[in-house]
Amino acid sequence: MSAPADNDVSRAPTGVRAPGRARLAARTLRTDRWWLSPLLTVLGLATFVVYATVRAFVRTAYWVPEYHYLTPFYSPCVSTSCVEGSSHFGHWFGEMPSWLPLGVLVLPFLLGFRLTCYYYRKAYYRSVWFSPPACAVAEPHARYTGETRLPLIVQNVHRYFFYVACVVSLVNTYDAIVAFQSPTGFGFGLGNVILVLNVVLLWAYTLSCHSCRHVTGGRLKHFSKHPVRYWIWTQVTKLNTRHMALAWTTLGTLVLTDFYVMLVSSGAISDLRFVG
Ligand code: FES
Repeated sequence: MSAPADNDVSRAPTGVRAPGRARLAARTLRTDRWWLSPLLTVLGLATFVVYATVRAFVRTAYWVPEYHYLTPFYSPCVSTSCVEGSSHFGHWFGEMPSWLPLGVLVLPFLLGFRLTCYYYRKAYYRSVWFSPPACAVAEPHARYTGETRLPLIVQNVHRYFFYVACVVSLVNTYDAIVAFQSPTGFGFGLGNVILVLNVVLLWAYTLSCHSCRHVTGGRLKHFSKHPVRYWIWTQVTKLNTRHMALAWTTLGTLVLTDFYVMLVSSGAISDLRFVG
């Protein structure tokens, strides 16, 4: 029998129906609630995406002038459409059309950073793309090409999103420092606690990135000759073991921070002040 032509090979199933794989009629033999984790994941991600999208577009209640609280969804705010005082880094653009989020400068990069994150990839490949939905549960796709083709090959730019995310974390840090003000000078309140907590956890998430681990300790042949980089790498590695938890926690703190700023800015509640 002649060997199959190249075209035939490229069309051959490469997923669970590939030659050599066990022929099972059932999609899975698992009897536990394997679907619960992907279901919770997709619900959690969808909730964040809906909330963040609405808040990014509404253009209201994102700045508290008395205490200099700025929500991270609008930072940095660098157009003349931003309310007075909220542009910590000046005006780089004129008026923005109402259909553009004021945080448009960084939101695509933050979205890219999370979308290409190694943890989120696992999360949405399982819960959204079902590739596969869980261990020992067959995926519905006949073919598997991994991240070797468009569009998924773009996942390889993650390290560049990581560099931008570091800059954005610096911006958020500056916002948190600027917020230690009151109408009478120095002051802080519950809003500051929330802003600082959010920034600390954002740094923890960013520095626990797998790309950060590679930047600090990758491509070294001998750790013994690079003790400083080795020490940094070990610290990043410890953080890295918490990457999934930090990924979810920071989604929560981003929403919490934005929600609190929205409540104070809109006058729904007053900031709980400790000093000033
Ligand atoms: Fe998750 Fe880089 S691997 S942010």
